[in-house]
Amino acid sequence: MLIRTATRQDMESVRDIYLSALDAGERESISQLAVDLLTQDTAAPALSWIAEADGIAVGHIAFSPVTVKGSAERIGFILAPLAVRPSHQKRGIGSELIRRGIDRLSEAGPDILLVYGDPGYYGRFGFDTSSAESYIPPYPLTYPFGWQARPLGDWTPPASALRIECAAPLNEPALW
Ligand SMILES: CC(C)(COP(=O)(O)OP(=O)(O)OC[C@H]1O[C@@H](n2cnc3c(N)ncnc32)[C@H](O)[C@@H]1OP(=O)(O)O)[C@@H](O)C(=O)NCCC(=O)NCCS
Repeated sequence: MLIRTATRQDMESVRDIYLSALDAGERESISQLAVDLLTQDTAAPALSWIAEADGIAVGHIAFSPVTVKGSAERIGFILAPLAVRPSHQKRGIGSELIRRGIDRLSEAGPDILLVYGDPGYYGRFGFDTSSAESYIPPYPLTYPFGWQARPLGDWTPPASALRIECAAPLNEPALW
């Protein structure tokens, strides 16, 4: 398996990964999120990676910057979205994409990595709900138990909870 940076040329492969992996209720919105994060023109672009196996793109992950609402100061990243083609699931590809991301983002210094997803999966990588209590998501959550965080490096919680702002493609209430 090879993990490499995704480019605009990968747009259709990225879309297809999500269309194949997700349920009908969310496949359109999440595949569009992945494409929008990949193609948005911004000073602080998302990290977007593809896992290749058997010569095809089989997995994708994106990490985008998070700021305090009303400020340009980056306080961390959010992991979203992530998917692996059903044909290649349960081979460690999702885990490898997450671990590589954690390693890479940790190089930037003390920070926090947020995620909104299944604690049964993300708990394996050190995410927990208590670290996330210091960060107020931009919209009310349909599944509050899915709001988790993982410290990157020598992180200390902020004195009071911070309301966060995400990259433009994540500013869609239905995603939360
Ligand atoms: C979640 C996903 C990315 C995992 O990818 P993967 O390459 O199969 O992951 P890994 O091989 O590293 O890990 C597989 C393990 O995670 C478990 N797992 C997968 N989804 C899970 C979930 N939602 N909750 C708990 N465990 C989960 C599998 O049962 C498997 O367990 P095992 O190691 O005990 O057999 C993939 O299943 C997927 O694309 N799902 C649909 C998209 C999605 O739900 N994305 C958001 C993640 S919450």
